[in-house]
Amino acid sequence: MRHLLAIEGMHRPQIASLLDLAESYVLLNRTGKTPRDRLRGRTLINLFFEDSTRTRTSFELAGKRLGADVINMTVSTSSVNKGETLLDTAATLNAMNCDLLVVRHASSGAPALLAQKVDAAVINAGDGTHEHPTQALLDALTIRRHRGSLENLIVAICGDVLHSRVARSNIHLLGAMGARVRLVGPPTLMPAAAERLGAEVFHDMASGLAGADVVMMLRLQLERMARGLVPSAREYFRFYGLDAQKLACARPDALVMHPGPMNRGVEIDSAVADHPTRSVIREQVEMGVAVRMAVLDVLSRVGANA
Ligand code: NCD
Repeated sequence: MRHLLAIEGMHRPQIASLLDLAESYVLLNRTGKTPRDRLRGRTLINLFFEDSTRTRTSFELAGKRLGADVINMTVSTSSVNKGETLLDTAATLNAMNCDLLVVRHASSGAPALLAQKVDAAVINAGDGTHEHPTQALLDALTIRRHRGSLENLIVAICGDVLHSRVARSNIHLLGAMGARVRLVGPPTLMPAAAERLGAEVFHDMASGLAGADVVMMLRLQLERMARGLVPSAREYFRFYGLDAQKLACARPDALVMHPGPMNRGVEIDSAVADHPTRSVIREQVEMGVAVRMAVLDVLSRVGANA
């Protein structure tokens, strides 16, 4: 593995070994005994063209816990000509001998383009509506810790699937690991070829959630909507927002997940989001650091500057 640009195309053994390595980092993180010499002398640059809280900070923490020099570059999308700036930026970063480049960009394919232009290992931290591979890995790690394996689990991914790179990466990863994926949401927020991705499509929560082992909620991505695809937030919540009543359709021990940031009262009710036993949303954040450490670790072994 030279870069991490997408889950699509990754196979089960590769995913499983990343998850195993991440698992070992969970324990090291909890005891504060992370190997700070692992990335000593390496430079990690966080290049974020889009907003982020969890992803950027967890990549920063992951790099620091392994001893890398971490630089955060936050670029405002509004003032840049994307194509030119990306390539100019790539040339600049290359001149700085960056080893690991973490990129988030509003355009699908931007990290892949950068990967062709820089010597560093490039990690996609979310590109447009395409993929968000480390999010799917951290979701898988969270589920695996609770259920032992992903094999044959029914995972319902609910809400704004159309705009969600989280959904796309999860569909590929869950499929590769033998889980059964359901996509649940209004027809206006469902990609046209949803079934071709190997998932079952539902347009109502009760049937989509029936018997589900995992309920993964997605944020309503209003910033990616050209026009009103939903009538109103209130109506959306009524039909597609996860509350205790809708959750009761899933298995009694079904896990509730959300990649964050949450729109409380829009796609998820606070009582469910904060539920002490059902919600694993905070654990997802913890797993995010461990997964990103595993990814940095693996990529730093094969990078051009290794
Ligand atoms: C997601 C993203 O940016 O794709 N957030 C995240 O990384 N945890 C999901 C979202 O923005 O809704």
